[in-house]
Amino acid sequence: MTDSTERDRLTVVIFGASGDLTRRKLAPALYHLYRTGALPQMCHFVGVARSEMSDDAFRDALMSGVKEVSDDGLDGWDEFASRVTYVSGSSIDDDSLAEIDRVVSEYCADGSKDNRLYYLALAPSLYAGTLEALGRGGMLDESSGFRRVVIEKPFGTDLKSARELNDVVHSVLGESQVFRIDHYLGKETVQNLMVFRFANTIFEPLWNRNYVDHVQISVMESLDTEGRAGYYDKAGVLRDMMQSHLLQLLALVAMEPPATSGADALRNEKAKVLQAVRKYESDEAAENSVRGQYAGYREEDGVASSSSTATYGAIRLYVNNWRWQGVPFFLRSGKAMAEKESEIAVQFRPPPHTIFETRNAEVTPNLLQISIQPHEGVHLTFENKKPGTRMGTAPEKLEYHFPPQVIRDSYERLLLDAIEGDQSLFTRSDEIEMSWQIIDPFVESWQTSLKSQLYPYEKGTHGPAAAGEFLGTARNWHHHGSDQK
Ligand code: BG6
Repeated sequence: MTDSTERDRLTVVIFGASGDLTRRKLAPALYHLYRTGALPQMCHFVGVARSEMSDDAFRDALMSGVKEVSDDGLDGWDEFASRVTYVSGSSIDDDSLAEIDRVVSEYCADGSKDNRLYYLALAPSLYAGTLEALGRGGMLDESSGFRRVVIEKPFGTDLKSARELNDVVHSVLGESQVFRIDHYLGKETVQNLMVFRFANTIFEPLWNRNYVDHVQISVMESLDTEGRAGYYDKAGVLRDMMQSHLLQLLALVAMEPPATSGADALRNEKAKVLQAVRKYESDEAAENSVRGQYAGYREEDGVASSSSTATYGAIRLYVNNWRWQGVPFFLRSGKAMAEKESEIAVQFRPPPHTIFETRNAEVTPNLLQISIQPHEGVHLTFENKKPGTRMGTAPEKLEYHFPPQVIRDSYERLLLDAIEGDQSLFTRSDEIEMSWQIIDPFVESWQTSLKSQLYPYEKGTHGPAAAGEFLGTARNWHHHGSDQK
């Protein structure tokens, strides 16, 4: 802990505590942090949801979530559980909030400092009302300890609604109290992007338009909408994945080296990249994208039978600055793909002249693949002499993989950062708004432009064939080190 003393008490209040996020992500993360001594000694966890539930029933629900996602055992569970309380109520109801405030304040009756982290694991439509109610109830006032708020994605559904939500946020909180979470930033491999780029000297001189042909950022999921179709049908791949996770990855890949690893320095550089991304008109967005929908999607519960929501999307973006002018960044994401696979591929240009022309040999340009998940690691493909009596060349790989046991769930890191007040891995208000500014024209063109066709694809494939053609000649989507059209 950076700023806690023995007299500091921490309470994590989770609104929306009966949901899946709390059970499968927040409870395992908090329990592991507690068990490994990362949290202040005096800490409590208060779950809030509408349903009536006893403390014990809530603790059992959390335990089942922990057991489902981890086989680390349940050492010290009873001690952790004894710090868990459940309050039945609504996050937008003043009386409920007064009751929560009373419960939390009572912990601090011994004069200890009353630090609080509020986690909004709620339906996004409740964010504004909850923040306003917390503000009204004086529960964001920092005179007796810090008050920090974690807000889940999606933050708005377009630029206009994101701005409105930011206005509400800023009417009750300072930006330093706000933690807009994007769980991709908590992934070990995503943080490694920064280490890879800025703790090594050999790649950075090549990391620009002179050497890079294009960049691919792929987040492919084998799962379909998994019973979340009601939400998903309104969001689609652009709002669910592109606006948040993929644009954050783009920002980390393309940003200039920050002067320090501090939150402001880092977020300033990310914001500059997002600002430099070429903003399309709706028709241009249609020309720079491909969308698809998996077969059977329209038959799912909660999906309109005529739904044109895309479950697959590929978009081409350009970063208009000196470093990246003219280099396409291809972002793609899809559900019900052949496999789960997220990676960033930096495709370098071919050598300007090759002296190794043999009848069959064509020099393969260098490729750097940063694998986000699974198989977390880095692959560098380089050209090597083909052994034998002739002068031929063949691509080979240098690889590093993180040992699987060191990869923790990203919520652990992010919760701890929020508790410690470190905002580096959280999205600032301007980043959110700029991201919507980039995505809105795609949303519009996918809804209205005749130029944007919705391609069907079979589940368990790599998405629509049109996405391959979209890359242009002599470019392939990279895929676990092999190529696919
Ligand atoms: C969430 C999306 O933000 O990220 C989901 O809402 C998606 O639709 C999930 O499945 C993917 O996260 P991960 O960590 O499993 O790649």
